[in-house]
Amino acid sequence: MGITYSEKSRTFHLFNTSFSYIMTVLPNGQLGNLYCGRRIHSREDYSYLLEMVPRAMASYVFEKERTLSLEHVRQEYGVYGSSDYRFPAVEILQKNGSRISDFRYKSHRVEAGKPKLPGLPATYTENDSEAETLILTLEDPVTGVELELLYTLFSGAGILARSAHFVNRGREAVHILKAMSFCLDLPDCAYEWVQFSGAWSRERHPRTRRLEQGIQSVGSMRGHSSHEHNPFIILKRPEADEFQGEVMGFSLVYSGNFLAQAEVDTHDTTRVLLGIHPEWFDWKLEPGEEFQTPEAVMVYTDRGMNHMSQIFHRLYGKRLARGYWRDRERPILINNWEATYFDFTEEKLLRLAKTAKAAGIELFVLDDGWFGKRSSDRAGLGDWQANPERLPEGIGGLAERIESLGMKFGLWFEPEMVNKDSGLYRAHPDWILSVPERTQSHGRYQYVLDFSRKDVVDCIYEMMAKILGCGRVSYVKWDMNRSITECWSPSLPADRQGEVFHRYILGVYSLYERLTSAFPTVLFESCASGGARFDPGILYYAPQAWTSDDSDAVERLKIQYGTSYCYPVSSMGAHVSACPNHQVNRSTPLSTRANVACFGTFGYELDLNCMTREELDQVKSQVDFMKKWRSLLQFGTFYRLKSPFEGNIGAWMTVSGDRGQAIAGWYRILNVPNPPYSRLRLAGLDPEALYRVSEDGETLGEFYGDELMYAGLVASDKNSGDSPHGGKTSCDFASRLYVIEKME
Ligand code: DGJ
Repeated sequence: MGITYSEKSRTFHLFNTSFSYIMTVLPNGQLGNLYCGRRIHSREDYSYLLEMVPRAMASYVFEKERTLSLEHVRQEYGVYGSSDYRFPAVEILQKNGSRISDFRYKSHRVEAGKPKLPGLPATYTENDSEAETLILTLEDPVTGVELELLYTLFSGAGILARSAHFVNRGREAVHILKAMSFCLDLPDCAYEWVQFSGAWSRERHPRTRRLEQGIQSVGSMRGHSSHEHNPFIILKRPEADEFQGEVMGFSLVYSGNFLAQAEVDTHDTTRVLLGIHPEWFDWKLEPGEEFQTPEAVMVYTDRGMNHMSQIFHRLYGKRLARGYWRDRERPILINNWEATYFDFTEEKLLRLAKTAKAAGIELFVLDDGWFGKRSSDRAGLGDWQANPERLPEGIGGLAERIESLGMKFGLWFEPEMVNKDSGLYRAHPDWILSVPERTQSHGRYQYVLDFSRKDVVDCIYEMMAKILGCGRVSYVKWDMNRSITECWSPSLPADRQGEVFHRYILGVYSLYERLTSAFPTVLFESCASGGARFDPGILYYAPQAWTSDDSDAVERLKIQYGTSYCYPVSSMGAHVSACPNHQVNRSTPLSTRANVACFGTFGYELDLNCMTREELDQVKSQVDFMKKWRSLLQFGTFYRLKSPFEGNIGAWMTVSGDRGQAIAGWYRILNVPNPPYSRLRLAGLDPEALYRVSEDGETLGEFYGDELMYAGLVASDKNSGDSPHGGKTSCDFASRLYVIEKME
């Protein structure tokens, strides 16, 4: 790994064993990109990569000269309006109304490791040898605004983390209207664009299309990263697949409004931008003030989509997620939400907990409805004190009774919200985001607290800390169930209202930081009506997230499959729920529900007391299985094998670091009469090693790694060809879980 600078050619080369990133100072002092991709040789001068061809209708920077047109050079942080016509990375409004900036190279420094981004989530290093950071300082001579571009290259893999930092060293205030975290101009457009989109209950479905001239983008203007689009996109060569080919993933470490975009110009170059969504963004920077953008992470590989995902999994699992739970097996939980909804008493909860304990479940989670006057979703949010009618001895009392059963206790909060029917709203009606004299739109009868205000965040912190301070809450589910409307704060002047969306998220991060610091061993699971805030920003504070409100096994197979392109299995909250399923009314086998959920943090969310003896026995063996294998399932190297978006069968697997153990999941969505043969070609095994393959504890055979990977594992039922009852997979929504262990 290294970062070199050639004084002569004014060229920077960031490289490690697999990746090179090369930039140069352009003749006008701005920064240009020369290369981003597979590692190439170091040389003093790469100026041959700077193609500057005079073109009709182009505008040029230097008088009496037709070479430097910013439209036609690949830039590091593009500005619109001074010969570049593409969507810019930065736009700064000045007192005279101009929006032109001209950030010229001033100096640079290289630091070992990676600096923190104050107040923001970001990847980190544990020792300085893991990464090197180049900080390029640029300056606009007219406004006096200084811009630092930060580039951290991690060792080993093609991981580049970028962000931008502004300091107003001028004499007048300016307004930052656009400040992207990442801008990359690529020399061609022969890519497929993959986005991860959907809606509530069907989040992060991959959607692929060819890049075309013009702008393609996804984003969120809802105040959270959203169910609709994830702040993650992939550009892949059309011939690349899961196992080979050039792939680049771009991920924004942020939980608020975002934009991820690729613009292909008419000469087929591609500009990738990632950052805070510019709509409604307007950050006033007084002289002396600073602004730091969120971080964006790019992963490059020429070894296919699985390899890209594995790099993200390792980075986000080990160098973004933090704290006590980062590397620990996650507790198997029972959550009462789909078991009781709001209809519970302490006795009912304890009955559920006792049955869960008998099945070996470790953590009891009390969901919505335990506080204030919360007997429906119309009241109570904001009043974070236990409802004495439901819990006569408070949270401490219930938690003590749960703990005396031998289980841990967890609790739901929705810290950012308030119902009008609450003590908090009655005391502070001015604490919600809303515009004077305008309609106050609600979502689920609730309003968004103004987390851009420190006094509001402080008050919520005090209430939560009091509950957690009883010392018996081991887990917190932090929910967020509506998008932001009428984003306006009375605490800020008119010319700072464009800051509220971002300040809101900074408030959310500050509350997370305070709570996780004060209660370091509490496991935080984030949630936003399921997966509306499944993003790297939140992962920095909460190592797991409720992946979706849809707990149907078939829908979950797709959602978890799509989520796995960027996020590790250890981050995906996944539960076995009741049938018919509450979201899609589908009935799937209990085994399939568990076989999908075990590729996640695993738990149950149903009334165990409504199950038959046989079903409870099955639950117990599922829990035993999970306890035995969860380290491999949650922290192994994950491979997607067959996409449920492309056919009737989905499959994935996980392999231990030493390739000694693996578990593969095979899922067939609909039964097929007289079905085709099914072979599953495994991945990541040692081709020379002999493995025992078993299913439900029964050995199926012994096979070499090369047989399992190249010939494939036979997944067809032996007698399914002419019998409607041909074995265990002869039903809709069938699945199999294979345990693969290296023989001594
Ligand atoms: C939405 C969450 O996604 C659910 O799991 C549940 O916690 C409800 N909110 C409770 O209101």
